[in-house]
Parts: sequence; C-alpha cells; structure tokens
Amino acid sequence: MLRQCLVLSLVLSVAVGYHVPYQHQQYEEPRYPQQQHHQQYQQFAQYSASNGKYDYDEVNVMELIQQYGYEAENHTVQTTDGYKLDLIRIPRGRQDKRVDQYYQGSSESSEEQSQQQQQQQQKKQQYKHNSAGQSSESNSNELPRRPPVLLMPGIISSADDFVLGGPESGLAFILADRGFDVFLGSVRGSKYGRKHTTLDPDRDGLFWNFCMDDMAIKDLPETIDRILVITRESRIRYLGHMQGAALFYAMASEMPRYNDKVRIMVTLGPLAFLGRTNNLMVKEIRDNMDSKGWVVRHLGTHVLKPSEELISKGGGDDCSRRVDDQSLCRNMYFLLNGYESKLLNTTSCKPIIEDTRVSGRVSVKEMLQLGYWAQTGRFTKHCRGTDDYNLSKVTTPIVMFNTHDDMMSTDMDVKELVENLSGMKRFISYAELTNNLDLLFGNRIDEIAYDSVIRALSEMY
Ligand SMILES: *[C@@H]1O[C@H](CO)[C@@H](O)[C@H](O)[C@H]1NC(C)=O
Ligand SMILES: *[C@@H]1O[C@H](CO)[C@@H](O)[C@H](O)[C@H]1NC(C)=O
Ligand SMILES: *[C@@H]1O[C@H](CO)[C@@H](O)[C@H](O)[C@H]1NC(C)=O
Ligand SMILES: *[C@@H]1O[C@H](CO)[C@@H](O)[C@H](O)[C@H]1NC(C)=O
Repeated sequence: MLRQCLVLSLVLSVAVGYHVPYQHQQYEEPRYPQQQHHQQYQQFAQYSASNGKYDYDEVNVMELIQQYGYEAENHTVQTTDGYKLDLIRIPRGRQDKRVDQYYQGSSESSEEQSQQQQQQQQKKQQYKHNSAGQSSESNSNELPRRPPVLLMPGIISSADDFVLGGPESGLAFILADRGFDVFLGSVRGSKYGRKHTTLDPDRDGLFWNFCMDDMAIKDLPETIDRILVITRESRIRYLGHMQGAALFYAMASEMPRYNDKVRIMVTLGPLAFLGRTNNLMVKEIRDNMDSKGWVVRHLGTHVLKPSEELISKGGGDDCSRRVDDQSLCRNMYFLLNGYESKLLNTTSCKPIIEDTRVSGRVSVKEMLQLGYWAQTGRFTKHCRGTDDYNLSKVTTPIVMFNTHDDMMSTDMDVKELVENLSGMKRFISYAELTNNLDLLFGNRIDEIAYDSVIRALSEMY
C-alpha cells in the first residue's frame, strides 16, 4: 500500500510536478536582519583577496561559521585505516547563545542572579548525570534538547556547501537556529578530509586508494559513533546531499545496526541508480572507462586530474552553450553536481566557482565507480564489484527531496530507488527546481524547501 502510494506520488510528480507549498509563515521566529551578514561575508572575501592572490580556497568552514557569529567546534574522526576527518559542529543557534553562556557562567555572578543560577546549576548537574547513561530519551524535560543532526555533502564537496549561503539560506545555520545540534561531516579525500596518520595526499598515491564503499562503511559509521559520544545521545538525524545520501544507503544496507542509530534520514537530492543518467561527465566516463589508457590520460592514476578534453566533453562545452555565467563551466564541482539551473545563486557559491583545487578532492576510483554504476544501472558495492547493496536492509525512515529531472539522477532512476528503499516514507519533488544543486544554492531555497526539510527532520516515525 505504502509502496503504491509512493509510486503514485512519484508518477504524479513526474506528470504534473507535485510540489509541497512552502509555509514559512508557520514558524514565528524572527529572521535576522539580512544586510548585516552579507556585509560580513563581503569583508571576509576581501580579507582573503588581500593575501596576494584572489584565492577563495582559503574559505575555511570554521572561520566562516564564526564570522557569522556562531560558535564552531572542530572534532577529528579517525578511521580504522588512518584517515583523519574534520567533523565540524555548530552546537547552538545564535539566539540561545546567551542562555548557554549563562549555564556555563563563571562563579563570580552577581547576588540577584545567584539564586536563579543555583537552580540552573542544579538542573545542569542533573542533566549531566542523567545523560551519562546509555539512553537519554526519557530526560527530555531537563533542558531544551538540541537533537544532533549530521549533514553529509555530495561528491567533491565539503561542509562549505551548508554554510556558504549564510544565516539566511545556509542550511547549517538555519538548522542551528531552529534548535538542532548541527554536525558537518567529511569524507576521505575531500577538502576537510585530507589528513592521514601516515599518508600524504600530495605525495602518496596510496592515500587515494579508495572508492565510495570505504566512505560508506568506514567514514560514516565512525562519524556517527563520534557524534553519539560527543552528544551522549543514542540516535542522530541524518541529511545527505547526493553522494552524501548514497553513502547512507550503502552503510545502512551493509551495517544494518546503523539503521537503529539514525532516527530519520533526509535525502536532499538522491543519487544511487545512474543507468539513465544524463550527466555528461558520468556518461563520458561510463563510455570510456574500460580502456586503461583512456583512464590514465583523462582521469589520472590516483587523485582525479581531469584532462581538458574530459572537461569539455563531460559538460564543459554544453555548459558554455547554456549558461550565462561561464566561470562555472570548467569546474568539476558543477560538472558533477549540475550547472544548468535558472535558480543557482552564483553569489553564494562563488567561493566554489573560484576554487581551483576542487578537482583534487576526489579519487579516480570514486569517479570510476560512478561510471560503473551508470554502465550497469545498478547500485553495486566493492568499487566495481558484482554484488548490489541490498536496499531492503535500509530501514531507517527516509524522507526524500527531489528536483525534477536532475541531470545526474533522472526521474526513472529515482523511481527505481524509491521503490527499493525499505524505509521510504515520503517523497517530495519540486517541479520548479531543475537541479539537485538548487537544493543548496537555489535562490530562495530556504523559502521553497527548508521548512519542509526541517519538518521532516523533526518528525518521528
Ligand atoms: C580542525 O583541526 C585539525 C587538527 O588540528 C586541523 O588540521 C584542521 O585544519 C581543522 N579544520 C578546520 C576546518 O579548521
Ligand atoms: C536483502 O535483504 C532482505 C531483508 O533482509 C532479505 O530478505 C533478502 O534476501 C536480501 N537479498 C539479497 C539478494 O541478499
Ligand atoms: C527494485 O525493486 C523492483 C520491484 O520491487 C525489483 O524488481 C528490483 O529487482 C529491485 N532492484 C534492486 C536493485 O533492488
Ligand atoms: C544570493 O546569495 C546572496 C549571498 O548569500 C544573498 O545575499 C542573496 O540574497 C541571494 N539572492 C537571492 C535572490 O536569493
């Protein structure tokens, strides 16, 4: 019955563009004055520029979060095979910052406050005591709890994806301000996952000897367990953008006990079945990857080093014909995640457009795995193995946000995914969005989709 409903709604979405109207009025929290933050951001960009070269790569997620007046914590997740991944936390929104400072207040508080403070301290003690136990579910009355949510970016991306939009449209900030304890994850090789106990990503080819399976069964579970330790919670909420969603499905099917550690999974732009993909980069790799010589010439040997020809054929030329802002047409980030969008806010993603090092954040094996998924039309494991990830083992409740006919994940491929994921609860497709990147950087995306995203993350199934 559920499956039929999903299929029906999917068919509807394909036919008429089913769209959940946004209702941002429903939330009464005041919005922050917008000019101010934007100004801060401009200043930051200039600051980078003043270092001699105009290199936006110097955007650092910690600094950016702090620039906007939020707290940021930097934790390191070390995997069993030696990768050290930054796990960035925004522990609270700006509004309740004062409250928390009060809780952690020094002992030299004024007389009038002391009584109240004492009560608060007691509460705090109680809270600490209670949450030290295994299950903290029942203690929800002690303090306003901030449910931990892990945001995982897509291929070649980083935690930057969720903060570049600033407090008004960056998902990480919006979630922090709506009461979530926000964690931004990293995978090996990505901008904040380039450290290793023994290997150097710039010198050791062995550092790049991984594909998405390694991220799914090593990086992700380690990250989730780390968050559970930090927050002393028993479960997290998870949101994955594109590859960040694929990794979750892979993990949950291979290590089913992790289904129980995640209360709700939100897919922001699916990626799994690629048999009917229209992404030119993936198609180019799919069609040529069986030639070893081609792979070495056009992708490289360890870390991705795309040839000019690959960039041209893999979307660069097509992009030049269709897109006004040519600056994104030679950039692997957009060639993989999508470039054709009428809504893309090129101001908020400018640091990514300007980032010349973006290609060097993905392994050749990872790219080949995408090509292989496109070749086989299957969601297979072991890099280029013959076994499928068993999606009926993915039992975590899933709410999926989709954009109509994304180039990477076409509607028919998404339909197959929706039909096969056991935990699938709700499917929301936006006809006015044409690209999964819109879900991060689309103009007004906060108004269009984020209230629904927040509602999904708040729901319990
Ligand atoms: C987080 O801390 C590690 C270890 O000190 C450091 O190498 C890394 O650059 C930091 N990450 C960010 C985003 O600042
Ligand atoms: C996939 O998982 C389901 C549920 O655990 C199981 O019944 C089924 O046999 C599995 N399929 C394969 C091919 O292993
Ligand atoms: C997806 O589901 C369909 C119908 O339920 C089934 O025939 C197909 O084998 C499944 N595909 C995968 C890859 O699990
Ligand atoms: C585009 O992004 C910038 C910076 O985040 C923001 O100030 C601006 O309002 C956005 N434009 C639209 C139309 O959403």
